[in-house]
Amino acid sequence: MEKYPIVAGNWKMHKTTTEGISFVQETVNMLLDIEKVTIIFGPPFTALFDLDVKSPFYLGAQNCHWESHGAFTGEISTDMLVDCGVDYVIVGHSERRHVFHETDDWINRKVHAVLNAGMTPILCIGEKLEDRESNETQSVLNSQLMQGLKGIDSLENIVLAYEPVWAIGTGKTASVAQVDETHNTIREELKKVYSEKESNTVPILYGGSVNPGNATELISVEGVDGFLIGGASLTSAPFTEIARKVEQHMKEKS
Ligand code: PGA
Repeated sequence: MEKYPIVAGNWKMHKTTTEGISFVQETVNMLLDIEKVTIIFGPPFTALFDLDVKSPFYLGAQNCHWESHGAFTGEISTDMLVDCGVDYVIVGHSERRHVFHETDDWINRKVHAVLNAGMTPILCIGEKLEDRESNETQSVLNSQLMQGLKGIDSLENIVLAYEPVWAIGTGKTASVAQVDETHNTIREELKKVYSEKESNTVPILYGGSVNPGNATELISVEGVDGFLIGGASLTSAPFTEIARKVEQHMKEKS
């Protein structure tokens, strides 16, 4: 099956159930003719239950726990997400890593749990500004990547997202050259463990201040397979405009 580029919205802690339903209805109606883009909505847990979407629209959760059940106050299991119709789970988002201090070991357990439940993890990696300034970007990314994927034999059901921490919610986007270089080096690193084919085809999304104004140049970078979008995913106009720019790019390419 052909893999289409992904436009995924991460709503973070925004929107009630009612707001989520009307946002999704409005957005889906604006994108009824979309053919070559996979669109993922990433609401908070409470808004997942009442959302019902069909391909090319999917539901994504922002986090999960790795155990199937038990005494884990405040946590949500993968079974609970499957029951809500979730197909994708964002794992290791920079806010989970840096605000909630998730470790690479936890993130790796979550990747396994999501796959075992038949869903697709969107494994996020990204360097902080100080890492970039001290030339540590590559080693930080390689470490997050390889620890996150520990024990995973195939990249077939994996999506990766490169999100430089300094570009998230700041209005600063990584330059085309930086994104190009980083996505390439991620694929080279993957080739040390996985087949050439899987390393070249695993979707790698870019995230960090993506908006309608920069979407076309970013999706045109070889090796960028879509976006993970925060701020611009909260209202229909910019989110649908980004999806249309990605679709346009796909049509021009084929
Ligand atoms: P942003 O967030 O688009 O608001 O920068 C991206 C993200 O956190 O995934």
